[in-house]
Amino acid sequence: MDNHANQLNQHAAGWYQFALSANIKKDKVSTFNYFDTSFVCYRSSDNRVNIFDAYCPHMGAHLGIGGKIENDLLICPFHGWKYSSAGDCVQIPYCSHIPKRARLRGYPVKELNSFIYILYQPNTADISADDDLSIIAENRFMKLISTQIKLPALEKLIAWAKSDYDFHPYEAGLLLRKFQNIYCLLATTPINKDTYTLSFSFAADLACHPLQLFSLKIRLRQQYKFLLKQAGAI
Ligand code: FES
Repeated sequence: MDNHANQLNQHAAGWYQFALSANIKKDKVSTFNYFDTSFVCYRSSDNRVNIFDAYCPHMGAHLGIGGKIENDLLICPFHGWKYSSAGDCVQIPYCSHIPKRARLRGYPVKELNSFIYILYQPNTADISADDDLSIIAENRFMKLISTQIKLPALEKLIAWAKSDYDFHPYEAGLLLRKFQNIYCLLATTPINKDTYTLSFSFAADLACHPLQLFSLKIRLRQQYKFLLKQAGAI
């Protein structure tokens, strides 16, 4: 199935680019809005990135608004329920009984080449993370352009990216292009039904001379800026 075409009509399950690694800090709860909802994200002391639905299962407080991290536990700002990095409620300050439903919904995460990727599962956590994103893991991708884009422009851009630049669907929110020893990645993640984040990145042979790499970077950036202009996105 053409995962990417499917994604533009609905929030398809699969891997999406979520954030830059540099934006996820230890001991700080960050909020991200994607898929018409909110997520909270933080880095635990072992450097792992954790992503959860943003709303506390107790009374629905937004954990990104006043939520804190202490000893790797995410603490709800309303009544202080504490959640482990596995999403389990492990402590309720005024009660020894922990209800079964006291659990945050978490998502599989990969941190590759300074980007965070999320395995988004809209309905239930029933799809497996069998795609290991190996091409992204094995190549050193560098960011070229990132922006936000409206759906009509994105549809045009993806059509041109496939027909004129030979991009192919790789994952739900990811298209790949390979030419010579160079990979280009086009990542789109829906913020809501009308607006997406979009980023282009590329990876070239590590043996490449730094000057060649620099001129390749300039050339690809120009190409993809042209594509964005053509689609009416900038
Ligand atoms: S709403 Fe989160 S602990 Fe009550």
